[in-house]
Amino acid sequence: MEIITDVKTMRQKVAEARHDGKTVGLVPTMGYLHEGHLALIDAARTQTDVVVVSDFVNPMQFGPTEDYQVYPRDLDHDAKLCEEHGVEYVFAPTVEQMYPKDSRQVDVFVDVRNLDNNLCGRFRPGHFRGVVTVVSKLFNIVRPDKAFFGMKDIQQLRIIEEMVRDLNMDIDIVPVPTVREPSGLALSSRNTYLTKEEHEKAAAIYKSLQMAKQLIEEKGIRSVSEIVKACSTYLAEKGFKVQYFQIVDYDTLQLMQETKGKIIIATAVFLGKVRLIDNLVMEVQ
Ligand code: PAF
Repeated sequence: MEIITDVKTMRQKVAEARHDGKTVGLVPTMGYLHEGHLALIDAARTQTDVVVVSDFVNPMQFGPTEDYQVYPRDLDHDAKLCEEHGVEYVFAPTVEQMYPKDSRQVDVFVDVRNLDNNLCGRFRPGHFRGVVTVVSKLFNIVRPDKAFFGMKDIQQLRIIEEMVRDLNMDIDIVPVPTVREPSGLALSSRNTYLTKEEHEKAAAIYKSLQMAKQLIEEKGIRSVSEIVKACSTYLAEKGFKVQYFQIVDYDTLQLMQETKGKIIIATAVFLGKVRLIDNLVMEVQ
């Protein structure tokens, strides 16, 4: 396994793989790998010949008051895990390689509309512009046949699926289910910020989503406001500051009044200063 830190070498390596008739799988990450990332890598391993894991904390997707500077980083540990999981290349470029101009000064970028009106997009202005811009850059550098994204970041996944369709990118986007702790807590690099007590408490996030599912399936409730109120109250009573608890249409990511068809139930909460997100996808008859 090789760690590559510059764009030119990365391009050469994938060009060689393609020349040998091999398919390329890309797992875009911001590093600090955990079991959730390893599930993406394992999926890539089984579906493509050469696996590239990008390991880059992308400044463009962090707001001015967000945790870019302190975001956890550990390239040695990431490289070890990648090696154990059969990855060929870890692409860990410097910020200067990815953004020869300052990342806040770029003149040309990819942007999103409508799909980022709700959920995280509503509270993180410019976040998805940063995500789709860096993902496009990674796609242009690695030119993967398939790229693997976790369902935990469901809005990101849906936006990237739409980007690939709208911009005619010849890449299969492969969604990979969220990996959870036995308590139900979704794995996230940000879980490392939690104290032991907060970590235990955080299991209530997934419970709130299951509660919404039960209200729909078992109690037959269709009113979104009723479901959102019950689940937000539950989370607030457990000590979370709820940034949002929303139910949106899976395809359009727009809010709905009545649950119908394929929906996303999603929440973002603060436990102290730590922001955690989770979601559940379901089909309502
Ligand atoms: O999901 C992430 O870790 C990031 O948003 C991504 C897709 C690697 C882009 O920086």
